[in-house]
Amino acid sequence: MKGIILAGGAGSRLYPLTQVASKQLQPVYDKPMVYYPLTVLIASGIREFCLISTPQDIPRFEQLLGDGKRWGITIEYREQAKPEGIAQAFLIAESFIGQDPVTLILGDNIFFGGDAFPRAFADFKSGATVFAYHVTDPERYGVVEFGLDGKALSIEEKPEHPRSNYAVPGVYIYDNDVLAIARAMKPSPRGELEITDINREYLRRGTLHVQRLSRGTAWLDAGTSTSLHDASAYVQTIEKRQGIKLGCPEEASLHRGFLSIDEFESVVAAMPKCEYRDYLSGVAVEVRRLGIGAA
Ligand code: DAU
Repeated sequence: MKGIILAGGAGSRLYPLTQVASKQLQPVYDKPMVYYPLTVLIASGIREFCLISTPQDIPRFEQLLGDGKRWGITIEYREQAKPEGIAQAFLIAESFIGQDPVTLILGDNIFFGGDAFPRAFADFKSGATVFAYHVTDPERYGVVEFGLDGKALSIEEKPEHPRSNYAVPGVYIYDNDVLAIARAMKPSPRGELEITDINREYLRRGTLHVQRLSRGTAWLDAGTSTSLHDASAYVQTIEKRQGIKLGCPEEASLHRGFLSIDEFESVVAAMPKCEYRDYLSGVAVEVRRLGIGAA
């Protein structure tokens, strides 16, 4: 399974923050925003990544994330010249995807808790798997309607009159058919290749699986100043209360077995003295004491 992190767009709703660095590079409490979706996919077992962003922001992501080697993963980079839709990512990353299934995560979607994603990736065989999350403002999202049997009946993008309160968050898992579907797509009236149109095509084929995320999962988007602040406050609350950190790719790679404990310790040793390093040093001590499953 290949992983795409989509981290482009103008970030205009966060202006002036986004004048010199894109939205997905902004801090969410103590880490850059992109660390959180990256960590979700690493924790789900994805090891090969392609990050897509604007031509001006790609060098900054490269500076931040590098080739992924220090986390036991690979990261390639591709440019999206203009924000012409989330589904365009599959065309941009076509050579990266090759013959494989692929997951796409939006760089401004932040998830915590639950094991829905690792399970969904482990169970995925073919077709498409997307998720549904109960929200108060479904009109801002892709909205899925369920029948009495729990199966998806319809998916609409930002409907004026939503048929349910279930929004589709920005994590999508597809088999390789997504490439042919994306190639055949036409832009929507707002001029974008819509991810919702891809999901509708899988729904039409009868191969769309929609999994409801349980109450134990938090989904935050960080696209406005208020939601960015809320996401930071949320991370701070959990980290302070539990003495753990959310969104650490190093830790996820260690627990996934992408990094050995020796490799993990040398990555930590190369960091400047800071709270992040102190935390990871504590993780190493615990893993040495209790074994890889610790935490
Ligand atoms: O957050 C989940 C929602 O994301 C879904 O429920 C919707 O179905 C989906 O269309 C999308 O809605 P948004 O209104 O949040 O999409 P937005 O245009 O804000 O793009 C989401 C992120 O993807 C944003 O951080 C910028 C990035 N992006 C977007 C487009 C259209 C790109 O990198 N390139 C693009 O061409």
